[in-house]
Amino acid sequence: MSRSAIRESLKITGQPGLISFSGGWPHPESFPVRELQEINRDILQNSAAFCLQYCPTEGLPELRKQLLLFSNELGLKVREEELLVTSGSQQALDLLSRVFIDPGDLVVTENPSFVSAIAAFRGSGARFLPAAMDTQGLVPEELSASLEELQKTAGGSSDYAQNMPKFIYTIPDFQNPTGLTLSVKRRTGLLEIAERFDLLVVEDIPYRWLRYRGKHLPLLGADSRPGRVIKIFSLSKIMAPGLRIAWIIGERSIIDKLVAVKQAADLCTGSFTQLMAAEFLRRGFFQPAVKRISALYRGKMQAMLETLQERMPALPGLQWTVPQGGVFIWLTLPAGMDSSEMLREAVERQIAYVPGTAFFPTGGGTNNLRLNFTFPTERQIRDGIVRLARVVRGHARRPVRLA
Ligand SMILES: Cc1ncc(COP(=O)(O)O)c(C=O)c1O
Repeated sequence: MSRSAIRESLKITGQPGLISFSGGWPHPESFPVRELQEINRDILQNSAAFCLQYCPTEGLPELRKQLLLFSNELGLKVREEELLVTSGSQQALDLLSRVFIDPGDLVVTENPSFVSAIAAFRGSGARFLPAAMDTQGLVPEELSASLEELQKTAGGSSDYAQNMPKFIYTIPDFQNPTGLTLSVKRRTGLLEIAERFDLLVVEDIPYRWLRYRGKHLPLLGADSRPGRVIKIFSLSKIMAPGLRIAWIIGERSIIDKLVAVKQAADLCTGSFTQLMAAEFLRRGFFQPAVKRISALYRGKMQAMLETLQERMPALPGLQWTVPQGGVFIWLTLPAGMDSSEMLREAVERQIAYVPGTAFFPTGGGTNNLRLNFTFPTERQIRDGIVRLARVVRGHARRPVRLA
């Protein structure tokens, strides 16, 4: 395993004067401090005996109850035994890796995909089948063609199941790192593929509520019972990542195995933050927080898109995504430019981003970079993109180095 490029780049983001577009961090202003203070005071006064105690691995009953209600409101048909609270969705990804992946197993990920999911799968020895994306997200036809190819090679052999991928990992809403959203038609297409090849889908849903334009699209397989699709939800982007509260919804047999692995990992997620999350949901703080945070981030995304439009040089192939929500914009530089090389100059000019190569499990992305717009202020976004445009212009003038 190697250290994540993002974690490494975050080390320089603390430098005074540096404008960081690197992490996927919420802005501190988004944190519901007043609500958490109120809950904190109440639960320490009334519930210290159990919220400071160990709790069941499956999760604190008070939170599980709220999460089942929350799932119902989303139209999901979830039973108690189909839900597991985890310490952030990153733990969910880690537990899934431990349960499903043996060294050498294949996993399908969008190409590019979330760097720490790639790291978790790789940590269990996964190999990757990257699924191509365009502006509407993963392209089902291309994935289908790759799976057919694989099926032909594996076909008839006794270890057919072992040769096929263990699951398809997808982030349909405001994907990390591209900010793109999987279209409704493609959601149906992806599920059809999963059915046809008898594959599980892992749907990672941390950004769904950060929608600044348009309407929510249906969750994958929302009208059927958990089975084909394993869902991972997180409160990191609406409450706070420091609480480390997320949950998995899946078939009982899968949840049972995940519980066994989680017992060995951390016994249980912190009871204290679980009760805070339960009260946050019970007191109806979730939707107002969504509204407030979306208003904050909508302006920031707009500021970044506007400044990119105004300041980026007109170079062949230079383009960026226009997301409907989330926390990232994905920039493509002209072919032949190297975003990792350019980062040194960017840091000299006091800006940071994550180079694209970190997000491609089997290579690629040299001329891509990821920009976060939630952590910096609007002023920093405008200043930072002006500086980035200068760096891009300067770098584009360099002669291309031939290999
Ligand atoms: C797609 C995706 N999944 C999971 C995570 C991890 O979130 P957490 O562990 O805070 O729930 C992130 C964090 O940015 C993410 O972008």
